Amino acid sequence: MRIDIATLFPEMCERVMSESIIGRARQRGYIEINCHQIRDYTTNRQKQVDDYPYGGGPGMVMQAQPIHDCCVDIIRQIEEAGHERPHIIFMTAGGSTLTEEKCKELAEKDSLLLVCGHYEGIDERVIETLADEEISIGDYVLTGGELAALVVADSVSRLCPGVLSSPEGYQEESHYSGLLEYPQYSRPEEWNGRRVPDILLSGHHANIAKWRHEQSLERTKERRPDMYERYMKNVNGENR
Ligand code: ADE
Repeated sequence: MRIDIATLFPEMCERVMSESIIGRARQRGYIEINCHQIRDYTTNRQKQVDDYPYGGGPGMVMQAQPIHDCCVDIIRQIEEAGHERPHIIFMTAGGSTLTEEKCKELAEKDSLLLVCGHYEGIDERVIETLADEEISIGDYVLTGGELAALVVADSVSRLCPGVLSSPEGYQEESHYSGLLEYPQYSRPEEWNGRRVPDILLSGHHANIAKWRHEQSLERTKERRPDMYERYMKNVNGENR
Protein backbone atom coordinates (compact mmCIF):
# COMPACT_ATOMS: atom_id res chain seq x y z
CA MET A 1 0.00 0.00 0.00
CA ARG A 2 1.22 3.46 -0.93
CA ILE A 3 -0.43 6.56 0.58
CA ASP A 4 0.32 10.08 -0.65
CA ILE A 5 -0.88 13.20 1.18
CA ALA A 6 -1.24 16.57 -0.58
CA THR A 7 -1.21 19.34 2.02
CA LEU A 8 -0.01 22.83 3.00
CA PHE A 9 1.56 21.20 6.08
CA PRO A 10 3.65 18.24 4.87
CA GLU A 11 6.06 18.45 7.82
CA MET A 12 3.19 18.00 10.28
CA CYS A 13 1.91 14.93 8.41
CA GLU A 14 5.41 13.50 7.97
CA ARG A 15 6.10 13.90 11.69
CA VAL A 16 2.94 12.10 12.80
CA MET A 17 3.45 9.30 10.26
CA SER A 18 7.03 8.71 11.51
CA GLU A 19 6.09 7.71 15.06
CA SER A 20 5.14 4.45 16.69
CA ILE A 21 3.55 1.57 14.77
CA ILE A 22 3.11 3.43 11.48
CA GLY A 23 6.67 4.82 11.57
CA ARG A 24 8.02 1.31 12.17
CA ALA A 25 5.88 -0.19 9.39
CA ARG A 26 7.24 2.45 6.98
CA GLN A 27 10.83 1.73 7.95
CA ARG A 28 10.26 -1.96 7.44
CA GLY A 29 8.69 -1.36 4.03
CA TYR A 30 5.17 -2.66 4.75
CA ILE A 31 3.66 0.69 3.73
CA GLU A 32 4.93 3.72 1.85
CA ILE A 33 3.74 7.21 2.81
CA ASN A 34 4.74 10.43 1.01
CA CYS A 35 3.73 13.98 1.96
CA HIS A 36 3.66 16.74 -0.68
CA GLN A 37 3.55 20.56 -0.41
CA ILE A 38 0.65 21.99 -2.46
CA ARG A 39 2.23 25.47 -2.27
CA ASP A 40 5.16 24.27 -4.43
CA TYR A 41 2.74 24.13 -7.36
CA THR A 42 1.53 27.73 -7.32
CA THR A 43 2.19 29.77 -10.46
CA ASN A 44 2.17 33.21 -8.79
CA ARG A 45 5.21 34.89 -7.29
CA GLN A 46 3.65 35.26 -3.84
CA LYS A 47 3.03 31.49 -3.69
CA GLN A 48 -0.55 32.26 -2.73
CA VAL A 49 -2.91 29.24 -2.67
CA ASP A 50 -6.18 30.90 -1.59
CA ASP A 51 -8.45 33.73 -2.67
CA TYR A 52 -11.78 35.35 -1.78
CA PRO A 53 -14.96 33.36 -2.37
CA TYR A 54 -17.14 34.36 -5.33
CA GLY A 55 -20.48 35.51 -4.00
CA GLY A 56 -18.90 36.85 -0.82
CA GLY A 57 -18.89 35.34 2.62
CA PRO A 58 -16.31 34.80 5.33
CA GLY A 59 -12.82 33.40 4.91
CA MET A 60 -10.78 32.31 1.96
CA VAL A 61 -11.11 29.43 -0.51
CA MET A 62 -8.27 27.21 -1.73
CA GLN A 63 -7.80 27.70 -5.43
CA ALA A 64 -8.13 24.87 -7.92
CA GLN A 65 -4.86 25.28 -9.86
CA PRO A 66 -2.20 24.45 -7.24
CA ILE A 67 -4.19 21.48 -5.90
CA HIS A 68 -4.77 20.19 -9.42
CA ASP A 69 -1.15 20.52 -10.57
CA CYS A 70 0.11 19.00 -7.31
CA CYS A 71 -2.20 15.99 -7.68
CA VAL A 72 -1.33 15.47 -11.36
CA ASP A 73 2.37 15.43 -10.45
CA ILE A 74 1.77 12.99 -7.57
CA ILE A 75 -0.28 10.68 -9.83
CA ARG A 76 2.60 10.69 -12.34
CA GLN A 77 5.10 9.81 -9.57
CA ILE A 78 2.86 7.01 -8.30
CA GLU A 79 2.40 5.50 -11.75
CA GLU A 80 6.10 5.82 -12.58
CA ALA A 81 6.87 3.88 -9.41
CA GLY A 82 4.80 1.00 -10.81
CA HIS A 83 1.61 1.51 -8.81
CA GLU A 84 -1.96 1.72 -10.05
CA ARG A 85 -3.54 5.15 -10.49
CA PRO A 86 -4.41 6.22 -6.91
CA HIS A 87 -7.88 6.30 -5.44
CA ILE A 88 -8.28 10.05 -4.77
CA ILE A 89 -9.98 11.23 -1.59
CA PHE A 90 -10.63 14.85 -0.64
CA MET A 91 -10.87 15.38 3.12
CA THR A 92 -13.90 17.62 3.70
CA ALA A 93 -16.40 18.15 6.52
CA GLY A 94 -19.13 17.60 3.90
CA GLY A 95 -17.91 14.16 2.82
CA SER A 96 -19.39 10.81 3.82
CA THR A 97 -18.43 9.72 7.30
CA LEU A 98 -15.45 7.38 7.74
CA THR A 99 -16.31 3.93 9.10
CA GLU A 100 -14.27 0.78 9.74
CA GLU A 101 -16.10 -0.73 6.75
CA LYS A 102 -14.74 2.08 4.56
CA CYS A 103 -11.23 1.57 6.02
CA LYS A 104 -11.36 -2.12 5.05
CA GLU A 105 -12.43 -1.14 1.52
CA LEU A 106 -9.58 1.42 1.23
CA ALA A 107 -7.00 -1.05 2.59
CA GLU A 108 -7.67 -3.20 -0.51
CA LYS A 109 -6.51 -0.41 -2.86
CA ASP A 110 -2.98 -0.36 -4.25
CA SER A 111 -2.57 3.37 -3.69
CA LEU A 112 -4.42 6.29 -2.09
CA LEU A 113 -4.05 10.04 -2.58
CA LEU A 114 -5.45 12.09 0.31
CA VAL A 115 -6.00 15.79 -0.40
CA CYS A 116 -6.22 18.23 2.51
CA GLY A 117 -8.08 21.52 2.28
CA HIS A 118 -7.57 24.51 4.52
CA TYR A 119 -9.32 27.83 5.04
CA GLU A 120 -13.09 27.92 4.41
CA GLY A 121 -13.06 25.33 1.65
CA ILE A 122 -11.74 24.15 -1.69
CA ASP A 123 -12.83 25.40 -5.13
CA GLU A 124 -15.52 22.87 -6.05
CA ARG A 125 -14.24 22.50 -9.62
CA VAL A 126 -11.02 20.73 -8.59
CA ILE A 127 -13.02 18.33 -6.42
CA GLU A 128 -15.32 17.57 -9.38
CA THR A 129 -12.30 17.08 -11.64
CA LEU A 130 -10.21 14.80 -9.43
CA ALA A 131 -12.05 13.30 -6.47
CA ASP A 132 -13.18 9.69 -6.40
CA GLU A 133 -14.85 10.52 -3.11
CA GLU A 134 -14.97 13.00 -0.21
CA ILE A 135 -14.55 11.73 3.34
CA SER A 136 -15.30 13.39 6.68
CA ILE A 137 -13.98 11.90 9.91
CA GLY A 138 -17.01 12.99 11.92
CA ASP A 139 -19.71 15.56 12.46
CA TYR A 140 -17.48 18.41 13.59
CA VAL A 141 -15.37 20.98 11.75
CA LEU A 142 -11.57 20.97 11.77
CA THR A 143 -9.37 23.90 10.76
CA GLY A 144 -7.97 21.78 7.94
CA GLY A 145 -7.99 18.32 6.38
CA GLU A 146 -4.61 17.23 7.78
CA LEU A 147 -5.84 15.61 10.99
CA ALA A 148 -8.55 13.88 8.98
CA ALA A 149 -6.04 12.58 6.40
CA LEU A 150 -3.82 11.30 9.22
CA VAL A 151 -6.78 9.48 10.73
CA VAL A 152 -7.51 7.82 7.38
CA ALA A 153 -3.83 6.96 6.80
CA ASP A 154 -3.51 5.47 10.30
CA SER A 155 -6.73 3.46 10.32
CA VAL A 156 -6.14 2.09 6.81
CA SER A 157 -2.43 1.33 7.34
CA ARG A 158 -3.08 -0.80 10.41
CA LEU A 159 -5.21 -3.12 8.28
CA CYS A 160 -2.36 -3.71 5.80
CA PRO A 161 -0.45 -7.00 6.10
CA GLY A 162 2.67 -6.76 8.28
CA VAL A 163 1.80 -3.44 9.96
CA LEU A 164 0.43 -4.97 13.18
CA SER A 165 2.57 -7.64 14.80
CA SER A 166 -0.40 -9.97 15.36
CA PRO A 167 -3.01 -9.91 12.59
CA GLU A 168 -5.71 -11.10 15.01
CA GLY A 169 -5.08 -7.76 16.74
CA TYR A 170 -7.50 -5.77 14.68
CA GLN A 171 -10.15 -8.46 14.34
CA GLU A 172 -10.89 -8.25 18.05
CA GLU A 173 -10.96 -4.45 18.13
CA SER A 174 -14.00 -2.26 18.48
CA HIS A 175 -15.87 -1.76 15.19
CA TYR A 176 -14.10 -4.47 13.16
CA SER A 177 -16.83 -7.02 13.77
CA GLY A 178 -19.57 -4.42 14.10
CA LEU A 179 -19.39 -4.51 17.93
CA LEU A 180 -17.42 -2.52 20.51
CA GLU A 181 -14.47 -4.31 22.07
CA TYR A 182 -14.78 -6.17 25.40
CA PRO A 183 -12.87 -4.76 28.43
CA GLN A 184 -9.17 -5.66 28.68
CA TYR A 185 -7.02 -6.20 31.79
CA SER A 186 -3.30 -6.69 32.46
CA ARG A 187 -1.13 -7.26 35.55
CA PRO A 188 -1.48 -6.98 38.52
CA GLU A 189 -4.50 -9.15 39.37
CA GLU A 190 -5.60 -6.54 41.89
CA TRP A 191 -5.05 -2.80 41.42
CA ASN A 192 -6.45 -0.05 43.62
CA GLY A 193 -8.86 -2.52 45.25
CA ARG A 194 -10.20 -3.69 41.86
CA ARG A 195 -9.78 -7.31 40.84
CA VAL A 196 -9.53 -8.71 37.33
CA PRO A 197 -12.73 -10.71 36.61
CA ASP A 198 -12.18 -14.32 37.80
CA ILE A 199 -13.19 -15.80 34.46
CA LEU A 200 -10.07 -14.30 32.81
CA LEU A 201 -7.83 -16.12 35.30
CA SER A 202 -9.60 -19.46 34.79
CA GLY A 203 -7.62 -20.56 31.72
CA HIS A 204 -10.87 -21.87 30.20
CA HIS A 205 -10.62 -20.48 26.67
CA ALA A 206 -14.16 -21.27 25.50
CA ASN A 207 -15.72 -19.66 28.57
CA ILE A 208 -13.46 -16.63 28.23
CA ALA A 209 -14.44 -16.20 24.58
CA LYS A 210 -18.13 -16.47 25.54
CA TRP A 211 -17.73 -13.92 28.36
CA ARG A 212 -15.92 -11.48 26.05
CA HIS A 213 -18.61 -11.76 23.42
CA GLU A 214 -21.32 -11.10 26.01
CA GLN A 215 -19.39 -8.08 27.27
CA SER A 216 -19.07 -6.77 23.70
CA LEU A 217 -22.81 -7.16 23.16
CA GLU A 218 -23.69 -5.47 26.46
CA ARG A 219 -21.36 -2.53 25.88
CA THR A 220 -22.53 -2.00 22.34
CA LYS A 221 -26.19 -2.12 23.38
CA GLU A 222 -25.60 0.46 26.12
CA ARG A 223 -23.15 2.82 24.40
CA ARG A 224 -24.01 2.50 20.72
CA PRO A 225 -27.64 1.38 20.28
CA ASP A 226 -27.38 2.23 16.55
CA MET A 227 -24.49 -0.25 16.08
CA TYR A 228 -26.24 -2.85 18.22
CA GLU A 229 -29.38 -2.72 16.14
CA ARG A 230 -27.39 -3.07 12.90
CA TYR A 231 -25.41 -5.99 14.33
CA MET A 232 -28.52 -7.84 15.51
CA LYS A 233 -30.18 -7.35 12.13
CA ASN A 234 -27.12 -8.87 10.44
CA VAL A 235 -26.99 -11.79 12.87
CA ASN A 236 -30.66 -12.49 12.30
CA GLY A 237 -30.11 -12.39 8.54
CA GLU A 238 -32.33 -9.40 7.92
CA ASN A 239 -29.66 -7.54 5.95
CA ARG A 240 -28.87 -10.37 3.57
N1 ADE B 1 -12.04 19.32 7.17
C1 ADE B 1 -12.67 20.06 8.10
N2 ADE B 1 -13.42 19.31 8.91
C2 ADE B 1 -13.27 18.01 8.48
C3 ADE B 1 -13.79 16.76 8.91
N3 ADE B 1 -14.64 16.66 9.94
N4 ADE B 1 -13.42 15.66 8.23
C4 ADE B 1 -12.59 15.76 7.17
N5 ADE B 1 -12.06 16.90 6.73
C5 ADE B 1 -12.39 18.03 7.37
